[in-house]
Amino acid sequence: MTIIDLTEKYENSYCMCLEEWSDEMKEAGGYKKSWLEKKKKKGLRVKLALNEEKQPVGMIHYVPIEEAPVMGKDLYYVYCIWVHGYKEGVGNYQNRGIGRELLKAAEEDVKALGSKGLVAWGITLPFFMRSKWFKKNGYKSIDRNGISELVWKPFSSDTEPPRMIKQSRKPDNRRGEVNVTCFRDGWCPSQNLVCERMKRVIEDTGRVAGYTEIDTEDRDNLMEWGISDALYIDSKLVNTGRPPSYDALKKKLEKALNKKGLV
Ligand SMILES: CC(C)(COP(=O)(O)OP(=O)(O)OC[C@H]1O[C@@H](n2cnc3c(N)ncnc32)[C@H](O)[C@@H]1OP(=O)(O)O)[C@@H](O)C(=O)NCCC(=O)NCCS
Repeated sequence: MTIIDLTEKYENSYCMCLEEWSDEMKEAGGYKKSWLEKKKKKGLRVKLALNEEKQPVGMIHYVPIEEAPVMGKDLYYVYCIWVHGYKEGVGNYQNRGIGRELLKAAEEDVKALGSKGLVAWGITLPFFMRSKWFKKNGYKSIDRNGISELVWKPFSSDTEPPRMIKQSRKPDNRRGEVNVTCFRDGWCPSQNLVCERMKRVIEDTGRVAGYTEIDTEDRDNLMEWGISDALYIDSKLVNTGRPPSYDALKKKLEKALNKKGLV
């Protein structure tokens, strides 16, 4: 296994979370690619783990914290770390120490760039990207919001702690209409997929519902709402932890339309 910086050759794979085999990833569309171009100029770093056949089997991506959906300074923020864990495509490469090596490579990289530490987020429950895994690798909890936990590894004792951005607004629930609001930063293909799927549902149901997209990679938007990635139908948050199917989204939208007598 070797760890490399992202090169053009692997950009498509990175933009699809190393899951080119997945139809869902194809459905997420090209949003991540344009996000990548924008974010490269803002200091995005991506490391890939390659197997013997030079196929990418793991990734970690991080940005200067000033460009991330959290508050902090002189630190880098990890959007996510992912070691391919499905049987499809390259197969399951988890639990072989690749995640640990990627994290170590990112730490060394940001140290060399003069950063004061690395920050990451994880889930406190036993699924998805667990904050516990980072803690096993020497990270300490620094902030929490529901099941989401911010963890960090400062490189010196004078480092100012980062913190999460708390939600300050939610979309309105207006009488006589249904509005869908999709908040997306663009870094996560799962959220991109949810937005694209929801747009398709709205089209297919005859555009009775309104659709607003809020680009939270834009810091003003992020600070106005305190939301990075989320989907709302009126003022109701839709659980997108695992992207809901087309049918599930359609059902939710129809329920909201029915409730307001719009179908
Ligand atoms: C969390 C994650 C990055 C960890 O990467 P990993 O390569 O699987 O993890 P590691 O191998 O470094 O460490 C995991 C375990 O393997 C063990 N291990 C470490 N080196 C090892 C080696 N050389 N051989 C065998 N096992 C090893 C570790 O001790 C650890 O054991 P434990 O946790 O059971 O006590 C990975 O499992 C993953 O991608 N999970 C999903 C996260 C996710 O959803 N990301 C997307 C969020 S947007």
